[in-house]
Parts: sequence; C-alpha cells; structure tokens
Amino acid sequence: MEVRIFKDKDQLGEVLAEILVSRIKSKPDLSFGFATGASPVPVYKSMIDYYRKGLVSFNKITTFNLDEYCNLPREDENSYYSFMQENLFTQIDIKEENINFLNGNAKDFDAECKRYDNLILDKGIDIQLLGLGRNGHIGFNEPATKFTKNCFKIKLSESTIEANSVYFTKNPMPHYALTMGTVSIMRAKEIFMIATGDKKADAIYEMINGDISPLCPSSVLQLHPNVHVFLDKDAAKRL
Ligand code: GLP
Repeated sequence: MEVRIFKDKDQLGEVLAEILVSRIKSKPDLSFGFATGASPVPVYKSMIDYYRKGLVSFNKITTFNLDEYCNLPREDENSYYSFMQENLFTQIDIKEENINFLNGNAKDFDAECKRYDNLILDKGIDIQLLGLGRNGHIGFNEPATKFTKNCFKIKLSESTIEANSVYFTKNPMPHYALTMGTVSIMRAKEIFMIATGDKKADAIYEMINGDISPLCPSSVLQLHPNVHVFLDKDAAKRL
C-alpha cells in the first residue's frame, strides 16, 4: 500500500482530484466506484472546480456507488443517491444513464444485488474510491467472522448507526443497507482510500498494521496490488 499524508483534507482533495482528472484525460470512458460520507467531499469539490474551469469532461465516465440504505426513498436528503447528486453529479456533465446505484427500495433485494453484481462484472471498475468506518468497515462491510463476497443486504452495526445517525435529523436512520461486498471492491484495478480526522486513526492503524481479518474488513486491502491510502495528519497520527 502506498500511504500519503497531507496537512489537511483540502490539500488531500486537491491532490487526489488532480490524479483522477489526469486518469480521465488518458481514458475518458473510465469506470469509477464512488463513495459517500464526508471523506470524499473535498475530492468531489475539487473535481467540480476542474470541470468549471473547462479542464475536464465527465461525459464518458461510468460510476457505480458502493452502497445505499434500505427502505429510504431515493429522494430523501439522506439517501446516498441524493448525496451524490448534491455533492457531484448535478455539478458536472456526467450522463444520467452512466450513473449506477444499488436500489435500496427494490422489492427483491437478492435479485437487485445480482443485477448490480452483473453490471459491475460486465463493465469492471478502474478506480474505486473508499472511505473508512471507525470500526474499519468499507462500503457497509461491517466487522464479521467471514469476509463478504458480492453485493448483499447488511444489518448495520451499532458503531455505524451511532456515527451516521447525526445526519438523520428528521427521520430515524435505517438499520439495513445494500452494499458491494469485499470481493466486489477488491476486483477494482486501483483503489484510493481516503480517511481524515482523529476518529479514524485507530481504524487506519489496524487496516495497515493489523492482521488481515474480517474483524477489520479494510485489512483485506493489504492483499490488493494497487492501493493508495490518502490521509490527513490526524488520521495518520498512530502510524
Ligand atoms: C458510511 C459509508 C461508507 C463511508 C463511511 C465513512 O458508513 N457507508 O462508505 O466510508 O460512512 O464516512 P465518513 O467519510 O463520513 O466518515
């Protein structure tokens, strides 16, 4: 794993956006796996700046988002679909038909997960962005006794409910979600992990130095040949 430490999240966002934009210039039809949460927001902001200055076009890229809450209307302000619309998609020239999400309101969750797995297998993911849960989760792959494989429905852990419920000021937070599995994530050709703030420091330490174990799902990234870990000083404080 390559580990890079930045003075703050804005500098991290600028450097990573510059890398992603240069990758799009070399391959305009790049396929991305995108993440939600606070961690990637500075990267998305900086990507929008490149677009506004006319320095890049996103009109050929394809995106697959990592995860989505179950039984939360897509239009709800807390759905990950709304998050991506607000923080990136409505501000760039991506084509609606190239945006892919798990449908957390599907009638048959197994069929929905299979549909998404097939789409990902068919297209492949060139670059996957990841945030990190305080308990070491990636996507919504929570600590467990076994590594997960493809997309599936998960009951969220207490730690994740506690961390994410701050965003749910009007309605209670859903306790279930659909997520890409660990194997789906590991199939990406290249992975950029973003972690900022001291609440991530323990999880970052475990991910890099701990045993490869499903008890810390992100530790599986030690086995991937092309992972870049982008941290601010606070998230890196135990390294
Ligand atoms: C959620 C998402 C993850 C994300 C994590 C960290 O649980 N499912 O994909 O990485 O939150 O979020 P934040 O970046 O807000 O700390």
